[in-house]
Amino acid sequence: MILLESLFFILPTYVANGCASLSTSIPILKNWSTPIDFGHEWKGKRILGDGKTFRGILFGTFCGILVGILEFFIAKHIDFQHLGQFKDATLVFFLKLSFLLGFGGLVGDLVKSLIKRRLGIKRGRPWPPFDQTDFLIGGLLFSSLLYFPGWTMTFILFIMTPVVHLFSNITAYLLKLKDVWW
Ligand code: CTP
Ligand code: MG
Repeated sequence: MILLESLFFILPTYVANGCASLSTSIPILKNWSTPIDFGHEWKGKRILGDGKTFRGILFGTFCGILVGILEFFIAKHIDFQHLGQFKDATLVFFLKLSFLLGFGGLVGDLVKSLIKRRLGIKRGRPWPPFDQTDFLIGGLLFSSLLYFPGWTMTFILFIMTPVVHLFSNITAYLLKLKDVWW
């Protein structure tokens, strides 16, 4: 049960991260690929790279909040063991929390890319385990301003997230939504 509740808690982060990637395949968003660093370099290397766009951040955050709204309606019908406060939480709580989880996750991904570029790792090249956990770290840090799910759940999320990330990436690769399987 704690596994399912962990997933319920972190879902806005996962969906925000997934939707940022999927935004490249959505026809009306596809061509809006302005990078957040506007193509600028710093000491001969890109600041963030072409893989971090405004489109990704905006669409990802939007999808994360949609998940939060859905969760508000579902939460009333769940007998939580660990996320007790969620049952009677208001829509405003879910809106704030899903924004922090989604946007925070995407900021975590940006910070990871910033460090990758400083280390000279090219856009799209793997950098485990940070590619798999950047959004979790960002999502947890931002959401902790409003709600902390406890250390047990945090521990479970750090084990669960790389597994979910790997499976969803392989699926996206097989569906030709992503160019690389990692
Ligand atoms: N993406 C985006 N905007 C974001 C995050 C992701 O447009 N803020 C899209 C980009 O097309 C990106 C793809 O989703 O290439 C996959 O995301 P990710 O793996 O995070 O980026 P990488 O291209 O691997 O770049 P990096 O090496 O900087 O992680
Ligand atoms: Mg990547």
